[in-house]
Amino acid sequence: MPTGGTNATAATAGIAGTAGIAGTAGEAVRVPWIVGVSGASGTPYAASVLRGLLAAQLPVDLVLSRAARLTLLDETGIGWRDAAWLDPLSIWLGRRADGTRRRDADEVRARIERLVEVHPPADLGARPSSGSYPTRGMIVVPASTASLAGVALGLSKDLLQRAADVTLKEGRRLVVVPREMPYTRATLRHMLDLDAAGAVVAAASPGFYAGARDVDDLADFVAGRVLDAAGVSNDLFRRWTGTLGEARSAAAGSQPDPT
Ligand SMILES: Cc1cc2nc3c(=O)[nH]c(=O)nc-3n(C[C@H](O)[C@H](O)[C@H](O)COP(=O)(O)O)c2cc1C
Repeated sequence: MPTGGTNATAATAGIAGTAGIAGTAGEAVRVPWIVGVSGASGTPYAASVLRGLLAAQLPVDLVLSRAARLTLLDETGIGWRDAAWLDPLSIWLGRRADGTRRRDADEVRARIERLVEVHPPADLGARPSSGSYPTRGMIVVPASTASLAGVALGLSKDLLQRAADVTLKEGRRLVVVPREMPYTRATLRHMLDLDAAGAVVAAASPGFYAGARDVDDLADFVAGRVLDAAGVSNDLFRRWTGTLGEARSAAAGSQPDPT
């Protein structure tokens, strides 16, 4: 987990490109992770990453691309409005992938109220547009091939792409989570370019060795590995212990064997 929580100054948090930044005597400076949600399938991945950051008490600046509103509506039935985001965000993060309410939904909402700010994607004047705004880095999850290309090429066509470009130019951590198959040669090249620029390309590619029992477990596996890549400690999935079949046995132990 990055040093410092919500009260850490950028300087004491050791955030790249923010050396020397601090509030006036004793004043806390909010240093968020930026999370960009683009219009690829995979809203459960974004929800799990956001819950993981909030569970670690880390502030988040959130940008949903215009196309992400379509995937959110399609995959969850939730209509997003930047002007009134608290309810849709709380409902989204407070539900499981099958639409049922999570037991920690109230706690998640309280964390959202305390830690999250939302910026409209067309607001190129918002703070994440500038490298002088201290951030811990950025996670684009899920990343459409369009956003991935835009970041690789430095297009900055909206706030999501601009914030990612700023993250790269400031030498901060950028994790991009593409969701597509198969990949075109252009997308593969864009991934190589992002890797060369210092980003981590972490495809939404769930592993089955962690004893997943449902869609939420698979989404949490991807989100946990994404947070690992960002350097954020998390316990979203069961880590490999070196013993074959251990996770499957543990999962089976909590469910009846139908055979
Ligand atoms: C329901 C739905 C699912 C989509 N799934 C994907 C996907 O998995 N991967 C992808 O790259 N694009 C996907 N798209 C297409 C993107 O939304 C489209 O390329 C859009 O221009 C991306 O814009 P953005 O990167 O600004 O969000 C999907 C679109 C819709 C409506």
